[in-house]
Amino acid sequence: MNILLLGSGGREHALAWKIAASPLLTRLWCAPGNAGIAREAECVAIDIADHGAVIDFCKANAVDLVVVGPEAPLAAGIVDDLDAAGIKAFGPSKQAAQLESSKGFTKDLCREFDIPTGAYRRFSNANDALAYVRAHSAPIVVKADGLAAGKGVVVATTLPQAEDAIAMMFDGTFGAAGAEVVIEEFLTGREISFFAFCDGETAIPLASAQDHKRVLDHDEGPNTGGMGAYSPTPFVTPEIHQQIMARIILPTVAGMKKRGTPFRGVLYAGVMLTPDGPKLFEYNVRFGDPECQVLMLRMMSDIVPAFLASCDGQLKNFNLRWYNEAALTVVMAANGYPGDYKKGTRIDGLDEAAAIEGVEIFHAGTVSRDGKILANGGRVLNICGSGKTISEAQRRAYQAVDRIDWPDGFCRRDIGGQAVEQEGSG
Ligand code: AMP
Ligand code: GLY
Repeated sequence: MNILLLGSGGREHALAWKIAASPLLTRLWCAPGNAGIAREAECVAIDIADHGAVIDFCKANAVDLVVVGPEAPLAAGIVDDLDAAGIKAFGPSKQAAQLESSKGFTKDLCREFDIPTGAYRRFSNANDALAYVRAHSAPIVVKADGLAAGKGVVVATTLPQAEDAIAMMFDGTFGAAGAEVVIEEFLTGREISFFAFCDGETAIPLASAQDHKRVLDHDEGPNTGGMGAYSPTPFVTPEIHQQIMARIILPTVAGMKKRGTPFRGVLYAGVMLTPDGPKLFEYNVRFGDPECQVLMLRMMSDIVPAFLASCDGQLKNFNLRWYNEAALTVVMAANGYPGDYKKGTRIDGLDEAAAIEGVEIFHAGTVSRDGKILANGGRVLNICGSGKTISEAQRRAYQAVDRIDWPDGFCRRDIGGQAVEQEGSG
């Protein structure tokens, strides 16, 4: 099969690595890709926002399957456009991608189908929103309805913070994404990421994972795209897993089908394990980054038949197998991220780091110039370790981090810390 992968992050490097291992593969391209992906796929400089250009490439190269990594092309309807051109694509339609591109859409779906989530209201003007937060007080969560590159959520611990967030969103900081605002009850508990492949009718769960969204150790500092992840997480017990499937994932798939917008692709639920049971706080319609990196390391099955089964509505009898080993990834980011950072700084020691047993390195924002790897983004590298336990995976990942010579980058030092503590006490 000929496959085209869209995207350029660590998530896409992990997907490229996994797809490249498939015996079904003939040729793999990635648009636009990065320096690491170039080892697994032929990188092509297509603008993936230009759906016509993507379709032309697929036709010229007899592409059998397109795998879409990030949310923006999904929200822009790339799967619908590929479909109309007769090209198979893994991912949801534009309508179904509203689970990520409109927080209000998801909250209304939860209300209609009795899916556990925080109480909420939708607002299209600042005055009504301000009156609501004043009546409910803090902590409270203010969310821009649309896609805001991960910056559209403000967890307000005080009323003035909530008021400022409302003013900022209706002031047009996020453009059209902030024209509507959702205000949501603050949920307490542990946050986990839950993934399922869906084919419009059926959902099959993937392994559990946990992200680390804040930039600094001990979950301090601003939110980022994700600074590290591990899988499996001991906090998703078989009972919790079953509850998430029965109360959140399956009712969502059934509800989307009933509404005439069936969901195909990978559904990523952000779930808070609250004292009252698991509650949904957001959906994404793609793999998490960096959760995908650890999931790909642990997936034993060939992923290509799973993509095809999702596209073709054939997941019902599908079975995915996983390695028992744990996996953990540490994100290395450019100094200054998630604020301003420099590009073009040189990274050495990658081969020495990758030589450690159980270590795999996935690139995010990198370019290759004259045989050297240079940083080219905020999140730059994913240093991954596998092992019999989370502790072993963690030890290997940090050993590898310590071999990397990149004075202009940093990482968190506590990825997987809570799971390691749990292992120690268990
Ligand atoms: P997002 O950018 O949508 O991933 O959300 C950023 C973060 O906000 C999430 O990872 C959660 O930690 C937090 N968050 C979102 N909704 C809630 C909520 N209702 N209660 C508490 N925290 C929340
Ligand atoms: N890991 C967070 C995200 O992919 O949105």
